Amino acid sequence: MPDIEFFRGCFNSYLENKLSTKEPHNLYDPIAYIMDLGGKRLRPILTLISADVLGGKFEDALDAALAIEIFHNFSLVHDDIMDAAPLRRGEKTVHKKWDINTGILSGDVMLINSYQYLENYPADLFKSLLKVFSKTAIEVCEGQQYDMDFELSDQVTVPDYLKMITYKTAVLIAAAMKMGAIISRSSEKSQDVIYDYGINLGIAFQLQDDYLDAFGDPENFGKQVGGDIIENKKTFLYIRAMELGTVEEKNELKNLFSIKPQNPQDKIRTVKQIFTRSGAAEVTRKEIEKYTQQAFQILESLEAPENKKEVLKQFGNKLMNREV
Ligand code: IPE
Ligand code: IPE
Ligand code: MG
Ligand code: MG
Ligand code: MG
Repeated sequence: MPDIEFFRGCFNSYLENKLSTKEPHNLYDPIAYIMDLGGKRLRPILTLISADVLGGKFEDALDAALAIEIFHNFSLVHDDIMDAAPLRRGEKTVHKKWDINTGILSGDVMLINSYQYLENYPADLFKSLLKVFSKTAIEVCEGQQYDMDFELSDQVTVPDYLKMITYKTAVLIAAAMKMGAIISRSSEKSQDVIYDYGINLGIAFQLQDDYLDAFGDPENFGKQVGGDIIENKKTFLYIRAMELGTVEEKNELKNLFSIKPQNPQDKIRTVKQIFTRSGAAEVTRKEIEKYTQQAFQILESLEAPENKKEVLKQFGNKLMNREV
């Protein structure tokens, strides 16, 4: 029975043979750099597992998995510019190591590159894959715009937040799985069920990302801890703290989220205290659990062998307990 590590290994060796450095170096070196920094490879693994669970050959899903992972890395390069992030996967972000223009253009090539891997599919599959992929790519941009707009708003509600993270994060995870389902030529019903599983898993995943951004261990998180607080991101932690905190805490939080101090360490410390004291941190943990359980519930209606579905359950449980 292939496990998560098996699929990660297959994906990584497939990827290794595809990466080549070309000229101009300042266009292609940053691509090799970000791809080589690795990361968890969650989305391509899900594409392969999805194809396998639904009775297809996971090898047939490798190019779609590659398209998804390259798209994801493109979105990270541009996201790090937008979030003014200095660190990614424990190393300098592309725009810090090179510059912003390099990050923009190398990112653009990655986006186009990701589509090219879909060209390897027969015409009927290509069309279905392209349709999901393009729809998803546009939604990710919409989610990213909400994320940026919300930095400047103090009216963001939980439903607004859920919509934003569904778009910026969950749809790509869901699409990664749906593409695996399409390649295995499974029924539309199965495609929808696995997409829905991906949405719920993706929401839990972004909630956990927000949680770790505040409470992760700087030694192994790989990104700047407190980055969302510095950028005044309206995360679930923030929105819930604004509901649960005392009047003083709410006022302080609101003031702190309207400034960007030169030295943000005091702001980060105070905000984290409020997140914890107000109960927002604990409520966030519960919400992660809730969406993960919802994903598992959806999995029950998927028509697939139980032992294969178990791999997807393991995946969800691992995500919930991750520290990176
Ligand atoms: C980071 O994704 C971007 C989010 C949607 C939170 P990952 O946490 O999957 O990043 P890598 O690929 O493992 O570095
Ligand atoms: C990123 O969300 C979502 C996309 C890249 C589309 P975040 O901004 O929270 O991701 P990280 O924390 O930088 O990885
Ligand atoms: Mg970011
Ligand atoms: Mg961002
Ligand atoms: Mg984040």
